[in-house]
Amino acid sequence: MKTTIAKLNEHVGEEVTIGAWLRNKRSSGKIAFLQLRDGTGFVQGVVVKSDVSEEVFQTAKNMTQETSLYVTGKVVEDSRSSFGYEIQVSGVEVIHAATDYPITPKEHGTEFLMDNRHLWLRSQKQHAVMKIRNEIIRATYAFFHENGYTKIDPPILTGSSAEGTTELFHTKYFDEEAYLSQSGQLYMEAAAMAFNKVFSFGPTFRAEKSKTRRHLIEFWMIEPEMAFVEHEESLEIQENYISYLVASVLKNCKLDLEILGRDTEKLAKVTAPFPRITYDEAIDLLKEKGFDDVEWGEDFGAPHETAIAESFDKPVFITHYPAEIKAFYMKPDPNREDVVLCADLIAPEGYGEIIGGSQRIDDLELMEKRYEEHNLTGDAYNWYLELRKYGSVPHSGFGLGLERTVAWLSGVEHVRETIPFPRLLNRLYP
Ligand code: 4AD
Ligand code: MG
Repeated sequence: MKTTIAKLNEHVGEEVTIGAWLRNKRSSGKIAFLQLRDGTGFVQGVVVKSDVSEEVFQTAKNMTQETSLYVTGKVVEDSRSSFGYEIQVSGVEVIHAATDYPITPKEHGTEFLMDNRHLWLRSQKQHAVMKIRNEIIRATYAFFHENGYTKIDPPILTGSSAEGTTELFHTKYFDEEAYLSQSGQLYMEAAAMAFNKVFSFGPTFRAEKSKTRRHLIEFWMIEPEMAFVEHEESLEIQENYISYLVASVLKNCKLDLEILGRDTEKLAKVTAPFPRITYDEAIDLLKEKGFDDVEWGEDFGAPHETAIAESFDKPVFITHYPAEIKAFYMKPDPNREDVVLCADLIAPEGYGEIIGGSQRIDDLELMEKRYEEHNLTGDAYNWYLELRKYGSVPHSGFGLGLERTVAWLSGVEHVRETIPFPRLLNRLYP
């Protein structure tokens, strides 16, 4: 019977055939251990010389790394293996013999592995990270659909920028100038006025000259936008969403977390509610921690975020940033005009800002004033202003960076390992 490694538990005691690749192999004169993978999982095949024909044993013994094959054998439970099963091999049929596979079981440098990303994806750790990414995507759709949100797809090619013009990728759109989307937010605001609660999930592009463990040029963002929701309620939605993601990964990615050596006790503490501190309190906290150079009105860098996160064992919201360092659309605090109703959610363990969000300006006059201050002239933003003309309502939204979230939950150091084919400052290959 043809099956996959993920389904071996349904076939204990039976003879099965799986299509697989050889990861690694150990053999002596009498026995060969084949480390197999088929994309759904990892399992060991045991070939005992006295149980098979000489031809099968020699084929198994001489097989090279990443050779593809059909392997047939009996499924047995094996408590020593973390996968729980083993195959007692009775037959092997080589599909394609691989020669000189570049990624050997020895250690390789990161640049080498990145150049071979198309192959590196096959490795156990990279597989585990992608499965965690997949689970976060699955849980995202589940959470928002369960809570009455409609998935809306904003455009990728745009005529306007959401987060400022310095990091835009320019492209020609026939005779017009266009950009690759930095954020779908402005379009999601239009969608919220049509569908009440919406979310998007798509690629975004930032021509950022940042070469850090948290920055990608192309990354994926989840952007919910909610009509009739103000700042405080938006924070509750965010903490519930993040708690849901963490619980889903803990429940459905046990083996992946184990392969990555992730400390799951730290993740288990991530339950709503999350602590909230204001930007002002964050400045005080940083001063206490010896950051004497922080000045009110400056944005926080990675070392600041990491220092703040160290004071909490859950993600922490930093709220009420100075208006001057935040985007033009954020609503000022009615009690204090120099700060805005916004929050960045900082992940624990140094993974940095995973969410940026805010309540949006819903007043037409104030938005017109912001347009002037930010030089948003021309027709590209007319439609966005019109949202404030026809039945404007309080609304809020946020953007979760998928790759930073994957990095945090997987415990991998750098976001380049959290997306199948990373686009970095100096990398467009493969
Ligand atoms: O804070 P940002 O820039 O917020 C927005 O774009 C809003 N328009 C979202 C909204 O309110 N709908 O980006 C949101 C998140 C960040 O918190 C971070 O997690 C991630 O996107 N992010 C990046 N991830 C990887 N590489 C980069 N270069 C990133 N820039 C932002
Ligand atoms: Mg931000």
